[in-house]
Amino acid sequence: MIPINMKNRRRDFLKLAGLTGLGIAGGGLSKGFASDSKCIEEPNLPQLIKQYGQLHEQRFNMSGFAAPKISNVRVGIIGLGQRGPSHVQRMSIIEGVEIRALCDLLPEKAEAAKKNLEGTGHNPGLYAGGRDEWKKLCDRDDLDLVIITTPWYMHAEMGIYAMEHGKHVASEVPAAGTIEECWKLVETAERTRKHFMMMENDAYMEFQMLTLNMARKGFFGEVVHGDCAYNTSKMKNNFSKSLYWDMWWLKQYASRKGNIYPTHGLGPVSQIMDINRGDSFDFLVSVESNDFMMNRRAMELAETDDFFKPFTGKDYRGNMNVTVIRTKKGRTIMLQHDATSPSPHNIIHGISGTKGTALYDPQPPRLATGNHEWVSQEEFQKLKEKYTPEIFMKMGTLARDSGHGGSDLLLSWRLIDCLHNGLPLDQDVYDAASLSSVIPLSEWSVRNRSNSVDIPDFTAGKWRTNKQNMDINLEKGGNTKVKG
Ligand SMILES: NC(=O)c1ccc[n+]([C@@H]2O[C@H](COP(=O)([O-])OP(=O)(O)OC[C@H]3O[C@@H](n4cnc5c(N)ncnc54)[C@H](O)[C@@H]3O)[C@@H](O)[C@H]2O)c1
Repeated sequence: MIPINMKNRRRDFLKLAGLTGLGIAGGGLSKGFASDSKCIEEPNLPQLIKQYGQLHEQRFNMSGFAAPKISNVRVGIIGLGQRGPSHVQRMSIIEGVEIRALCDLLPEKAEAAKKNLEGTGHNPGLYAGGRDEWKKLCDRDDLDLVIITTPWYMHAEMGIYAMEHGKHVASEVPAAGTIEECWKLVETAERTRKHFMMMENDAYMEFQMLTLNMARKGFFGEVVHGDCAYNTSKMKNNFSKSLYWDMWWLKQYASRKGNIYPTHGLGPVSQIMDINRGDSFDFLVSVESNDFMMNRRAMELAETDDFFKPFTGKDYRGNMNVTVIRTKKGRTIMLQHDATSPSPHNIIHGISGTKGTALYDPQPPRLATGNHEWVSQEEFQKLKEKYTPEIFMKMGTLARDSGHGGSDLLLSWRLIDCLHNGLPLDQDVYDAASLSSVIPLSEWSVRNRSNSVDIPDFTAGKWRTNKQNMDINLEKGGNTKVKG
């Protein structure tokens, strides 16, 4: 291989990114919704993955990175649909946070979010009414943190721009939809030395944190395998004409393949397996059923409502996607995504180790240590008391009363507490990139008869020496208060 100096490496990297961007965006557009989705039908993706990896030289290791302390975190929030307002509410009750700016394409959303802040002491400026208003928010020089809660295919572009303009970024899940975006996030964070955290909130759920602590304390022995999923019926939501902005979720399902919502299941399992800090994803294979439900529903609705006609005849993502990941240390992960079957919400969270097993869904959560049976409720309670991590002891009661089993408030509080105390964040840009890369990689595998595809090592080999970074026993920090 010809040696490439740093300057050339960067130029080649960006050139490659630009070229593949065209290639990627070009694929599948005739079948999809050109303005909203980026489909991966790039036949050379495995080759491109190698090239990206070879051209990337880590200029600064963001794993364990701690930014200077920020005593008053000045926040701007972009995207105020279903999810955004809950971030506004949580940020408004954490001490040492000032919400200075809010943005949504739709003025009524921005105004409603501001109205909800009346009487809280926060008085944000509003940015609304244009597709690029969010850039004005990022251009301000009096913000420390930009929170992004727009549709996920916008997160990378917005996050990169915010980092380029001197802001730390916390983005909703997933963080990116293409391999090119994943690498650009990594490259930008390393160059600007700004945090980019993808806010994977399921990693903060009570049982998930309990099992993380148990794994660290050796309860499972060596962790061999993880089962995880985001299986929940979203048929009503996705076909609702008023719920999601511009039917963006339905457009994603109508134009992509693979697991397009991988992080809720994969996040907690990756933490337990120390992915990017002790182990690393190696490759995946992805198998998908046909679509038996979504096109049919679109056709039924279109019979009486012309609005749904553009959604008929599409090559919808299959109803069930099963992706299997192998790690560099030889562990395996089974990850599912099903957004159509009429089944209750199920994220599985099954951990199999040499000495112990855990299973979250279907409820109730269970633990086993052998003898072909789960431990009794009495024994379960004893283990829970022994292994519940400090973070849950501290925030548990307060957090349990908030969204998603307490995980939402815990995540927001930890994010701000780390910024206040100048500590590394619990999830870094490498986590955002590797978890999100499953979207384009599983899509490529599905479109290529489930062939295996390498998962990029976004840490450039540093996973071997990077330290664990989710401080669930609060050895540092923990002094940020939440307003009662
Ligand atoms: N972590 C979780 O548990 C969780 C739960 C729900 C949603 N999410 C994630 O949150 C994100 C938002 O989902 P949602 O359900 O709120 O979607 P939504 O459609 O309800 O809201 C999206 C908002 O973005 C706005 N928007 C669109 N383009 C914009 C632009 N150019 N500039 C500014 N605003 C723009 C829309 O007007 C809309 O208000 C998604 O990425 C989703 O995956 C995460």
